[in-house]
Amino acid sequence: MAVGSFQFDDRPAGDFNGKITVSVVITCIVAATSGLIFGYDIGISGGVTTMVPFLKKFFPSVLKRKSEAKTNIYCVYDSQVLTAFTSSLYIAGLAASLGASRLTAAVGRKNTMVLGGCTFLAGAAINGAAANVEMLILGRILLGFGVGFTNQATPVYLSEVAPPKWRGAFNTGFQFFIGTGVVAANCINFATAKHSSGWRLSLGLATVPAVIMTTGALLISDTPSSLVERGKIEQARKSLIKARGTGNNVDGELAALVKYSEVAKAARQEPFVNILERQYRPHLVMSIAIPFFQQVTGINIIAFYAPVLFQSVGFGNDSALIAAIILGVVNLCSILVSTGVVDRYGRRFLFIFGGTLMFICQVAVAVVLAAATGVSGNKQISKGCAIAVLVLMCIYAAGFGWSWGPLSWLIPSEIFPMKIRPTGQSVSVAINFATTFVLSQTFLTMLCHFKFGTFLFYAGWIAVMTIFVIFFLPETKGIPLDSMYAVWERHWYWQRFVREQR
Ligand code: BGC
Repeated sequence: MAVGSFQFDDRPAGDFNGKITVSVVITCIVAATSGLIFGYDIGISGGVTTMVPFLKKFFPSVLKRKSEAKTNIYCVYDSQVLTAFTSSLYIAGLAASLGASRLTAAVGRKNTMVLGGCTFLAGAAINGAAANVEMLILGRILLGFGVGFTNQATPVYLSEVAPPKWRGAFNTGFQFFIGTGVVAANCINFATAKHSSGWRLSLGLATVPAVIMTTGALLISDTPSSLVERGKIEQARKSLIKARGTGNNVDGELAALVKYSEVAKAARQEPFVNILERQYRPHLVMSIAIPFFQQVTGINIIAFYAPVLFQSVGFGNDSALIAAIILGVVNLCSILVSTGVVDRYGRRFLFIFGGTLMFICQVAVAVVLAAATGVSGNKQISKGCAIAVLVLMCIYAAGFGWSWGPLSWLIPSEIFPMKIRPTGQSVSVAINFATTFVLSQTFLTMLCHFKFGTFLFYAGWIAVMTIFVIFFLPETKGIPLDSMYAVWERHWYWQRFVREQR
């Protein structure tokens, strides 16, 4: 047995495993489309911030520097206002995701998704019509509230509705739609980049994924757990029958949910206090560590700034956007790899395999950039080296796509007991946004000062997180949500926290 892992292969994956039904597949696909709005935003902001008319209207100082910058290729886009434009969304998202803990418990996962979609829609409309920086930032704050709500509610929704044996695969749908949003946004940026008001279209078109996901969320029913928690037992039964198939007897599963909900209600406390109890230490550590680690893989730096980065390292305007599209497509395809194997080989295998690959790529990017641009970054990079950087980044994006991308949404949504599940997911999303904020706020400055060393910084983190997974993350594949406590009880390190409480 590997350190920190447990084999559950020989045991049936729970009594209420359910089959894959058409209805559960459609429901989960519809729910997962919530990822579209987040992905669209990630993709669009990176591209729009390289569009000359956009910079001219809102950030003229960056444009001035761009035309003067002949000296150091790493520093062209180092502007605090420009990064504030991108990052304001994350601060708003952070606040919203913490609020969403109570909201999803009170109104359900589905309604939180609907609310998130509507808020995002409003933000997209304001951004498309922006006349000044203030409107731009206000729009982004609303977009932030939108993704704060949906990123909190959707992974939990997917984990609660999916049959336990295939929970991993269903949950990767969220990341798949994030990736789809990124690619769609990159393509739109490519098409609009040449028009003087193209940025308006790019930002305004965020209304489309918002309408798609909000309509979808209105059509699905809430999760059985959430309905039981809110005392809607008959609706919960209907939702279960829909998810597990009409031929299946759902009485046992429903009775178990009711029992868990009653236990949770009897011990009802403030969930943000509950989560601090010693018995939830392993869960809490994971809900903080996993999203933090996801961000310090450096993925957003690549995703937000791929076009900027490629321009900085020698690609022209068009080719920088094409490079970003290629990167997005590679990432998207690799998520499907995760969908295919996450419930067969497990989460740990993907984390370790993906992490190793990403580590190698980050180190290699640093070496190529150091060799190609010189230590000061003043040498012009050759086309060949720029392509080498692109290839390495593609392999890196593939590694992310089958490991830290989807699994960082999956793990926090599946490890918590019902009574603090929404809170655990809120903490996780808040940490994700907070880390994204800090990194995006500092990355361009870091790139400007540390140059290729920036990539070594992320490589170091990837090594740390891979070792962390090896020693501390138990395997969760196939375990029904309500039996998840067993993985901690049998873990070489975490058992001391959970056993003492029995
Ligand atoms: C991450 C984002 C990232 C995206 C890239 C998501 O899972 O949370 O921060 O930009 O994947 O596709």
